[in-house]
Amino acid sequence: MAKTYRKKIIAGNWKMNRTASDAKILATEILAEIKKFDQADIVICPPYTALGVVAEIISGVPNVFLGAQNLHQAANGAFTGEISAAMLRDFYCRYVIVGHSERRQYFHETDDLVNQKIKTAIANSLKPIVCIGETLQEREAGPAKWQAVLGRQVKEGFKGLTDKEFADIIVAYEPVWAIGTGKTATPAQAQEAHAFIRGLIEKHFSAEIARKIRIQYGGSVKADNAAEILHQPDIDGALVGGASLDARSFAAIVLASAEAVPEATRSDS
Ligand code: PGA
Repeated sequence: MAKTYRKKIIAGNWKMNRTASDAKILATEILAEIKKFDQADIVICPPYTALGVVAEIISGVPNVFLGAQNLHQAANGAFTGEISAAMLRDFYCRYVIVGHSERRQYFHETDDLVNQKIKTAIANSLKPIVCIGETLQEREAGPAKWQAVLGRQVKEGFKGLTDKEFADIIVAYEPVWAIGTGKTATPAQAQEAHAFIRGLIEKHFSAEIARKIRIQYGGSVKADNAAEILHQPDIDGALVGGASLDARSFAAIVLASAEAVPEATRSDS
């Protein structure tokens, strides 16, 4: 059977960094560094307060998209301090990160809440980048444990989604022990987890969805380890935190995704 070509997707999660004026500078520098590179989808996720300026800077660049870092599951209402999907669309957001481990850990987001947020995002034409991943303790407890955690996150997080809704979803495998720690999963460890996640999606949903869905790796991705990670057969991109705050590093990761496209597997070649 011919291998499916999945376009790489590289997202930069700026987290709670950069004021709007600093964001303007960083986004401008990123565009200058990546030039006209179009072999991957590139998503920039600044803080809410910088969405407007970044939207202006990237407007008209066909493969560079705006993303938010979170959204509220309700359409509107008395939820002080929260941001709705419609508000994000109003700023030209196309993607939104859902269920990041920092949201799960510090803001107690559950798989059920993640599921609601995914549905709200898709209903408002936002593509959710859904983060899953095990903690250090769960990893060290052995394969049965981390596999059970990923199994629960996939089964519960994606519960009740239709095939059509799945087409808009990006999964980000982010082992919590590798986020911001400088500790990356080895390419082999990441590939193993990605293949496992693809298998879970096939088991709980369908082979077609599993074949098509893009799964990013996240956790201390840097310019010097990106190519090796992005070369793995089940790794379709990266969700980059720290290194996305430096235009040159982020651009190097983006460019590394090009080398990772094996010509023979491209459906358009
Ligand atoms: P990191 O963060 O690249 O700084 O490890 C990744 C993330 O949290 O998405």
